[in-house]
Parts: sequence; structure tokens; C-alpha cells
Amino acid sequence: MIGRLNHVAIAVPDLAAAAEQYRGTLGAHVRPPQDEPAHGVTVVFIDLPNTKIELLAPLGAASPIAGFLEKNPSGGIHHICYEVADILAARDQLKAAGARVLGTGEPKIGAHGKPVLFLHPKDFTGCLIELEQE
Ligand code: CO
Repeated sequence: MIGRLNHVAIAVPDLAAAAEQYRGTLGAHVRPPQDEPAHGVTVVFIDLPNTKIELLAPLGAASPIAGFLEKNPSGGIHHICYEVADILAARDQLKAAGARVLGTGEPKIGAHGKPVLFLHPKDFTGCLIELEQE
């Protein structure tokens, strides 16, 4: 069902500092910050030859990553995003297998303008999984 690794997301306390570390120290191609109010985050995408890194910082008071950063004040890997050919078919198959889909269970439009869903980390070896329609 899952296809390519779309990105690895890292929650960071200081988005500008993290972006500069990837650009200056690691020599990566870093895109400009992008506010995602529907997801409560500001994101910076970093293009690598085979995948992307998504730096995440909280946006607004009720950001879903605020709690994560409280537990991990210096930042940490927050989720992994896999591509799927048909997100609704993937959701229905996963729900039938007993996996929990976060939120309403309806896909939201993600940072790439494509539908995304999140799967409960406790159902997937402690890792929050994002599914993105190809
Ligand atoms: Co993501």
C-alpha cells in the first residue's frame, strides 16, 4: 500500500536557526517558510536528492506540536510521511485492520496541496505516520 517516502518531519524550537543549520552547515537546498494555519504549524521544506525534510515549528496557541516540543525541548523527529496512490482506499483498509486515524478521519490538505491523513503512533511502532496522496 505505502509507496515512496515523501518526507521526514522534525519539530524544532527555532525554525530560523534550524533552517540556517541545514542551509549553511549541511549545505542543503532550503525553501522559504510556509505557514499552515489549518495544521497549526509553520514548515520549511528541505529538498534532498531522494526525499525531503520538513522542519516544523508551532503556529498559534493550539499547535498540535506544542506538547511534543515541551517533551522534546531541543526538537526531534515528529513524523514520517509515506505516499499512497489512493488515500481514501488506504484509510478504509487501515481502519478495517484496526488502525486509528487521527482527527475526523477525513483527509486535510497538506503542505504540498495534496490530501493527507495521520495515523496513531501507538498503532505503528511508536511513530506518527502521515499518508499523502501521490
Ligand atoms: Co508532514
